[in-house]
Amino acid sequence: MKALSEQICDYLIPWKNLEWPLDLDALFSRKMPMVLEIGFGDGSFLIDIATRFPERNYVGIELAWDPIQRLFKKIEHLGLSNVKVLRCDAGQAITSLFQTDIFEEVFINHPDPWPKERHHRRRLLQRSFLKEVAASLIKDGQLTIATDHADYASWIAEILESQDELTNTLKETRVPTLEGRIITRYQRKAQEEGIGNHFFVWKRAMDQVEKKPTLRKEDMPNVALRGEVDLEAVFDGFEQLNFQERNQNIEVLINLVRAFKQHGEPHFLVETMIKEGRLNQQVGINVLKLEDGKITVKTSAIGFPRATWGMKRAIWHVARFVLSRAPQLKIVNSTVGDLID
Ligand SMILES: C[S@@+](CC[C@H](N)C(=O)[O-])C[C@H]1O[C@@H](n2cnc3c(N)ncnc32)[C@H](O)[C@@H]1O
Repeated sequence: MKALSEQICDYLIPWKNLEWPLDLDALFSRKMPMVLEIGFGDGSFLIDIATRFPERNYVGIELAWDPIQRLFKKIEHLGLSNVKVLRCDAGQAITSLFQTDIFEEVFINHPDPWPKERHHRRRLLQRSFLKEVAASLIKDGQLTIATDHADYASWIAEILESQDELTNTLKETRVPTLEGRIITRYQRKAQEEGIGNHFFVWKRAMDQVEKKPTLRKEDMPNVALRGEVDLEAVFDGFEQLNFQERNQNIEVLINLVRAFKQHGEPHFLVETMIKEGRLNQQVGINVLKLEDGKITVKTSAIGFPRATWGMKRAIWHVARFVLSRAPQLKIVNSTVGDLID
């Protein structure tokens, strides 16, 4: 049996260190139809289907580490080369990690139902999430959802019936049994307890979907200022700043948490948290005082920053903060838009 470190290298996708959207074909070193399972739990479904169809590539997403390690053992035991794992939140993966037009099939088997009404917003299957899942499917690509929770089933049915990115492949919105279905652990548990299951099989309806831009490191936003400034005075008594904005109907929360002076240097680093929908970034924004009299505001390499809309706004807010304390500075360049409110 391989050591865990070797299994991690072979089966786990190091998504934090890679360009987004991920190049899944390159990660598998072959171009084959791609299938996704979200929240694979004990992994029996993923292993079963990947064994039956070796000519397809399988990506499994799971948040919990124990099931992932158990899956590694199964992959290795069976010698499967067509399964890879993403350890991350499925919402984040669907929003940021996957290109559109990529999956032949997506399976969401028994997602956590969050039964209490005040927790419904935590449910994975939301309108915006399903829209992104639909875009990640190839034309006529299929989404299968299974749940044994009656209220969640009605919630899912309502969302599916009120959108037009996916169309039903069955006669009814949902069905109680599916022929040829590979049974998952939660499905079996429900059957043994006499609880009904609900299956949805919908396919992508749109002819075309827009490609997502690649978020490259070299495209990171920045602002250049020029003039005499004492950055210690600028950041003296810095207190947390919070901003709440919206982009394309997604709430964006930006927190400029703390400012640190870099040891032995005139530069400052602003610890920053950015939440855009389900995408969370914790990064450092550098305010560098260069010898040629230029002040540059840009992200540091800490936290694998991505050039999202929220990141641009965070740079904008830091630059605005510096300018508010040092209005004598001139704006030389800005890739984050006008620095005027
Ligand atoms: C109720 S279990 C179902 C497991 C399996 N699919 C089955 O049918 O037996 C839900 C699984 O989804 C995982 N999960 C929950 N929320 C997730 C998320 N946001 N992203 C990825 N996995 C998630 C949980 O860790 C858990 O393993």
